[in-house]
Parts: sequence; C-alpha cells; structure tokens
Amino acid sequence: MQATSAEVVNYLFWEFFWPAVAVAVFTLGWLVIALVKFRDRPGRPEPADAPVAGQFPAERKNRFVLASFILVPLAIVAVLDVIDQEALHFLKEVPEGDHLTVRTEAYQWAWDFTYPEGFTLQNELRVPKGRPVVLKLTSRDVLHSFYVADFAVKQDAVPGQISTLWFNATRAGTYRARCAEYCGLAHAKMLATVVVMEPAEFDAWRAAKARGG
Ligand code: CUA
Repeated sequence: MQATSAEVVNYLFWEFFWPAVAVAVFTLGWLVIALVKFRDRPGRPEPADAPVAGQFPAERKNRFVLASFILVPLAIVAVLDVIDQEALHFLKEVPEGDHLTVRTEAYQWAWDFTYPEGFTLQNELRVPKGRPVVLKLTSRDVLHSFYVADFAVKQDAVPGQISTLWFNATRAGTYRARCAEYCGLAHAKMLATVVVMEPAEFDAWRAAKARGG
C-alpha cells in the first residue's frame, strides 16, 4: 500500500470479502445438505412430486423463501453501501487545498504528462510524496485507461472528454503505471513510470524543469 487510496480500496476489499465468504458457506452448505439428504438410494421410491417428462412440474411455493432470496442480498448490499459512503466519497472527491494537477494525454501507445508550467514528460510522471496529485485525463485517439496497481487507482481516458483521477502517494519510489483498456497492438507496452519524490527534491526538480532545465 503506497497511497491513501490503496488503504481505502484494501479496506473495501476485505469488507466485501467476508460477507461474500459467509454467503458462500451458507449457500454451498445447503447444497451439500441437499445432495446428501435427497440422494438416490437403492429401493427408494420416487417422491410423489418428482418431475415427469412432458409435464410441467408441480409448483412448490414458499413465499418466505422466495422473498428472502431477494430481500437478504438486497439488505446486505444496502448495508455495505450505506456504511461505505465515506470511503466512496473519499475515492471520488479531490481534497480541497494544495495539490498538483497534471494534464495527462493518452494515445497509441504512450502517455504525455503536462505540468502547470507547460513542460511535458513522456511516459514518466513525477510527483511529490504526501501531496494530492490530480490527473486530468483525456485521449487523443481511442479509449485508454490509466492504472497504477500500487496506488489502487484506475480511470478511463476518453477522447473528447476529461476525466479526473487523484491519489496521494505515501512512499517515495518508482511505480509502474499501465494502460488497462485494450487499445490496439502495443496496448501491453503502453507503460509509464511514476516517480514519487521527496517534496523538497520534487520542488527543486520542478523549478529547474520550468526554467527549461
Ligand atoms: Cu492504451 Cu491500452
């Protein structure tokens, strides 16, 4: 986990994982019970309501069971949705205050990162540690998607449209960004490097770059 977004996504993952395990154990448990209890044994007579070829099977209505098939999953999803509002809001909303905005243009098959001063890096995004970074994403040609697995962020780049992605990297280092939307022959090679720098080092680099260095 190298970004605050990664922590939130990780939290959401486990929060959905354990209810999913509970549902799987419950459902598969009933399946195993049914397989054992109603298995065919030698000499066992056909049940009275066994299906007969060419006839519609008799209805076995149990409104309580039918309703629970709808209501229980709905309740689980509704509860998770309500308690996750804050996390989802955090992932979507760019925080107020000091952040770095980088215009990002995707094209077959590379990334251009343009800083507020006007200089552009190809396939390399340099950002300061601990400060929110906002990418204003678009595409020159077809659909692409900016994806950094370490930060747990992914956002489509759509021609004629600007989409926003933000992250806050928490550890200096070099990370891999890749295109996550099939975009033609060299899609798999559409990679970029994300360099997370110490803030002072980043400011010095940015100032030099802005002067044309
Ligand atoms: Cu760009 Cu895949």
